[in-house]
Amino acid sequence: MPDVLVTGANRGIGLEFVRQYAAEGWHVIAGCRHPDAATELQTLATSSGGRVTLHVLDVEDHATIDQVAALLAGTRLDLLINNAGSSGSPTSGRDRQAGGFGQSNFDGWLTMFRVNVMGPMKMAEAFAPHLEAAGGTVATVSSQLGSMALNTSGNVYGYRATKAGANAVTKSLAIDLAGRGIKAVTMHPGWVKTDMGGPSAPVEPSASVRGMRAIIAGLTPATSGHFFNFDGSPLPW
Ligand SMILES: NC(=O)c1ccc[n+]([C@@H]2O[C@H](COP(=O)([O-])OP(=O)(O)OC[C@H]3O[C@@H](n4cnc5c(N)ncnc54)[C@H](OP(=O)(O)O)[C@@H]3O)[C@@H](O)[C@H]2O)c1
Repeated sequence: MPDVLVTGANRGIGLEFVRQYAAEGWHVIAGCRHPDAATELQTLATSSGGRVTLHVLDVEDHATIDQVAALLAGTRLDLLINNAGSSGSPTSGRDRQAGGFGQSNFDGWLTMFRVNVMGPMKMAEAFAPHLEAAGGTVATVSSQLGSMALNTSGNVYGYRATKAGANAVTKSLAIDLAGRGIKAVTMHPGWVKTDMGGPSAPVEPSASVRGMRAIIAGLTPATSGHFFNFDGSPLPW
C-alpha cells in the first residue's frame, strides 16, 4: 500500500486528496494545524479502517514538521503533497488581505512566504529520506498566478510572488534530488470551488484532484521539474 503525506488536509483541495487516495487504498498521513477541529477529516479517518492518520502539522511551525518526520523515521514515503496554501485573504484563516498596489500588507506577505514557499521547502528537506527510500515524488500545489508568461492582468503581488517562489523551489528540488531517485512537480489546480476559490469557481475539488493525481501518476524523470495545469497540459513559467 503506497503512502502519501498531505499538508492542509482538513479542507478544500487537501481534504479531497485525502478522500481520493484513501478510496484507492493508499495509507494517507493527513497533516493539519488543528486535527481536533477537523471534523470531516476525522470522519474520513474513522471510516478508513486505519488507512488515514491525522497529525498536527503547521507548515509555518517547523518543529511540528520535524516531529512528524521523526515519527515516520525509517519508513518510506511515496508521495508528499505540499497543498497547504495562503492567499493572504480573510477566508484563509488568520491571514489578512495582502492588498493591491499602494496597499500592501506585508505581514500578509510574510505569512504567504512562510506557508507557500518555505513550507514546501522545509517539508522536502524533512521528508527527503523517507521519499528516497521509496523513489518518491514531491508534488506542490502552486497556481498559474505564479506564471510570468500568463500574467496579463497585474495585481495580486504577494500571492503571485509566492507561487512563483514555490515553482522555483520545485525546479531546484527536481534537479538536486534526481540523484536520490526523487521527482518533483508543480501544478495549477484550476480555479477550484473551495474557501479560497469561492463559490463561483468552475472546477469541483473532485475534478481538480483527479487531474492532479493523474499528473503525479504519470510523472517520469523526464517530466520531473515541470509545471502542469490540472488537466495535464504544460504551463509556461
Ligand atoms: N482554490 C483555488 O481556486 C486555487 C487556485 C490556485 C491554487 N490554489 C492552491 O491550492 C492549495 C489548496 O487551496 P484550497 O483552495 O484548498 O484553499 P483553502 O480551502 O483555503 O484551504 C487551505 C488549506 O491550507 C491550510 N493551511 C493554511 N496555512 C497553513 C499552515 N500554516 N500550516 C498548515 N496548513 C495550512 C488550511 O488550514 P486551516 O484550515 O488550518 O486554515 C487549509 O487546510 C493552496 O496551495 C492554494 O494556494 C487554489
